[in-house]
Amino acid sequence: MKPLRPQIAQLQPSLIREVANAGIGRSDVLAFWFGESDEISPIKVRQAAIDSLQAGETFYAHNLGLPPLREAVARYTQDQHGQTCGVTAQRIAVTSGGVSALMLAMQAILGVGDECLVVTPIWPNLLAQPQILGARVRTHSLRPFNGLWQLDLKALLADITPETRLLVLNAPNNPTGWHLTHDEQLAILSRCRETGTWILADEVYERLYYGGTRCAPSFLDLTRPDDAVMVAHSFSKSFLMTGWRLGWLVVPESMLDAMGKLIEFKTSCAPVFVQRAAMAALARQDEITPPLVRHLQNCRDTLVPLLQAIEGVEAASAAAGMYVFFRLPGHEDGLLTAKRLVSEAGLGLAPGEAFGPEAAGWLRWCFASRDLSRLHEGAKRLQSWLRGA
Ligand SMILES: Cc1ncc(COP(=O)(O)O)c(C=O)c1O
Repeated sequence: MKPLRPQIAQLQPSLIREVANAGIGRSDVLAFWFGESDEISPIKVRQAAIDSLQAGETFYAHNLGLPPLREAVARYTQDQHGQTCGVTAQRIAVTSGGVSALMLAMQAILGVGDECLVVTPIWPNLLAQPQILGARVRTHSLRPFNGLWQLDLKALLADITPETRLLVLNAPNNPTGWHLTHDEQLAILSRCRETGTWILADEVYERLYYGGTRCAPSFLDLTRPDDAVMVAHSFSKSFLMTGWRLGWLVVPESMLDAMGKLIEFKTSCAPVFVQRAAMAALARQDEITPPLVRHLQNCRDTLVPLLQAIEGVEAASAAAGMYVFFRLPGHEDGLLTAKRLVSEAGLGLAPGEAFGPEAAGWLRWCFASRDLSRLHEGAKRLQSWLRGA
């Protein structure tokens, strides 16, 4: 038997899974390890999928997504970023989840040995995907300051060179809640224009923003339609649709045909009934997303003070996302701590090590919980564990 490609053989399994596998299915474990809300998708979204199936929509469809869904996504994008953002349906590819949007974008740009610069800490898939393609991954690290992670813009700009074929950024960020400002985005954009570097901006958390505007600063507020920028999005987080596996990618119009070919050879198309559900979600976005964001802000504002009140916890409140990323000084091995918390305290968190070596010792707590009492109970378990540890 010939061996697997080394890039696949060497892939790191998910450290979040390593912790979760130790406690999944145990009714005594309060789980906050995965990045999703425990709220079921809205009934009208589910009904749209049922109606589609009842109507017999069980066939292959367009590679790039149903035209009315692509139109609806373009209108939604213009609602968020203004008509001047120039995003039309001719720039939208509907994909099987945000994760697929990201992989397709990378497949279009990265070949074996190409340099891909990734700003970390970051959701682990964004480091694994370029590795799978055989790209040369370099990381640029954010730095923690008073419990929140910050970008050294000058250092990042210096790290982007003509060798850098793709820059990958996830802002608002999973796990840290860090986000970019428009000034930073402009500086990055102009540096990438100079070096000929593509930007892949993962903005799936743009609506989970507590900074006073409807969404976090986006590259789409600033880019020209022909800029070498791709923006990945998802129905998972803002529309409570993680299990449906639907996302989209905004690309320059000149790239759309290539995306259609890539989708044909990967998944061919997203299921029609799922796309109908997504159309229902977009049509009712004002009933779904703003209440969700208000609830998530409430979750954050419940959990952070609970954690800050515990002796031995260093936690801060980030302006975006659905995570508290925090430290327990004196417990510097996050993987070990996360495993011990599962077995000794019945508390399921994700280890910082999963998101990059600079985050060793940190822990990620997804606060998207319908029932706030779960957050109270989780904080209580952490406090008793720390007292006994
Ligand atoms: C930063 C980031 N990007 C993309 C995704 C992918 O979302 P999905 O594939 O569910 O659309 C996630 C999911 O956790 C994420 O955290």
